[in-house]
Amino acid sequence: MSNQLASNEKGSDESESSKKNMGLRPRNTERSYGWVAILLHWLDVLVIFSLFAVGWYMVELTYYDALYKPLPFIHQSVGILLAGWFVFRVAWRLANPSPEPEPGISAVQNLAAKVAHIGLYLMIAIVLLSGYLIPTAEGVAVSVFDIFSVPATITSLPTQADNAGWVHRYVAYALVGLASLHAAAALKHHFINRDNTLRRMLGRSDTSPDQ
Ligand code: HEM
Repeated sequence: MSNQLASNEKGSDESESSKKNMGLRPRNTERSYGWVAILLHWLDVLVIFSLFAVGWYMVELTYYDALYKPLPFIHQSVGILLAGWFVFRVAWRLANPSPEPEPGISAVQNLAAKVAHIGLYLMIAIVLLSGYLIPTAEGVAVSVFDIFSVPATITSLPTQADNAGWVHRYVAYALVGLASLHAAAALKHHFINRDNTLRRMLGRSDTSPDQ
């Protein structure tokens, strides 16, 4: 009897935990993000803010600084890896449904969120492309951690390095500004509206019907 009780309790624990772990499927559903989208999202956050901080710092260094060469090398290597990652991210986004917005969010807010998401994708693409066009302007390939190189392709745009540098700088600022607004909106949903918008990007929306 007590064995049966224990096994019933175990069964119900397992079903609770499997309900919660259903959020850990790889693909998105109409109601929740899969783990691939969640992983891609948080790695993007980490890498983009880190590249921004490193980029901002490295352009102030002088030739005699020990980090004058290593930091741009790391910035460019990680940037190129992010570009490959970004292509996969866009493909994954197109191949998966986007979870429906949480109930109670107005049409205007939903539209604003969609515009912000498209803006983020576009800005990431522009920052990556302009970044690539700076060191390759003179026909030099970009080395990725000395493991492989991405060759220069476009080299003849007018004052290419300067113009690409300008675009890279200001679109990177705009990207980090918009990403910060996007983060602030997610925190507002979590702490003020108290809905599942942020929780489901953390893989835990316990109240969502399919969790
Ligand atoms: C989302 C990814 C990236 C972000 C957020 C980012 C951010 C930045 C920032 C904030 C700066 C400083 C700009 C300034 O104040 O003048 C910078 C500089 C630079 N970045 Fe990036 N970057 C990214 C990707 C890349 C990539 C993929 C490359 C090249 C393969 C690259 C190459 C460079 C170079 C060469 C500079 C120095 C520009 C100069 O000396 O004027 N970046 N980056």
